[in-house]
Amino acid sequence: MRHRIKSHTSNEVEVFAPAKINLFLAITSKRADGYHGLSSVLAKLAYGDVLRVCKRNQSDGINLSCPGFEDLENSENLVFRAATLWFESTGESWGADIKLEKRIPSMAGLGGGSSDAVSTLIALNQLGATQLSPKELIHLSAQIGSDCPSFGVDGLCFAEGRGEVVRSVDPSLAENLLGQKVLLFRPSIGFSTAEVYKKLAEKKNYSTQGWAAERVHAWEKGELTTENLLHNDLETAVFSKHLYYRPLFQQIEKEFSLVPKMSGSGSACFVLIPEEFEHMPQLKELILEAWGDDCWVKLTQIID
Ligand code: C5P
Repeated sequence: MRHRIKSHTSNEVEVFAPAKINLFLAITSKRADGYHGLSSVLAKLAYGDVLRVCKRNQSDGINLSCPGFEDLENSENLVFRAATLWFESTGESWGADIKLEKRIPSMAGLGGGSSDAVSTLIALNQLGATQLSPKELIHLSAQIGSDCPSFGVDGLCFAEGRGEVVRSVDPSLAENLLGQKVLLFRPSIGFSTAEVYKKLAEKKNYSTQGWAAERVHAWEKGELTTENLLHNDLETAVFSKHLYYRPLFQQIEKEFSLVPKMSGSGSACFVLIPEEFEHMPQLKELILEAWGDDCWVKLTQIID
């Protein structure tokens, strides 16, 4: 996690907050606590937000600025929740100015808010007198959101439970995907995670845990390619209402022999781009033609 820190002095630290994609997302049950049981493989991306945290000596709270996204400067922001939890857990009581350079679109399934929260914990841990262990940080982050713990794991992450039971994927497998190009694209609309899960619960369209475990196991053993692993159970919940997804996906598959997937609960999608791929302008053009010029498109890559 320490490699997330871009620079630091004794009272200021700059931390990267990567976006994520779900290479695999099987939803296997509706739990008694209202959450869903899942099985997921998550990859972190070179595209992300940057947090600059400055320590003040007075204990006069947290001050969050988010230039260009003033609507995010409120107590609902997971950065506040993360900072509050860190101060509660450590018993420290200094003030912090946090500047969030926001790039990851919200309500996109790219984990922006969760990643910002975990990077806040990393920053405060660097500046404070108390250093919580990586395990403690992951435990703390699970109280902020189901996606958060995956950002506390190095390399590719395998997540179970409601997302909080995490481990790193075999480093040799993760190494193969390091630098893998990823094209992200998102329609000009965002989705609420809770709503998408609710829709899935109505349909009861779950995978079995056995099937999910088998797929991930086969992939980890090298018996399944990453392209064949790609899966997202939340797609059906979204695609049945948002009818513009399937036609674009089918066209991308047909014209470019690529496999598009939605990330998490959407609305963003991604395509893994092979090294030898020579049709990037045409692919981007197809996406913009289908979903309009206000569609967000970004080429990035998998990091560890
Ligand atoms: O954990 P988080 O606050 O990010 O989750 C947002 C919402 O998404 C939850 O309130 C729940 O409705 C849904 N969710 C779920 N099962 C999960 C993760 C999220 O049902 N494993």
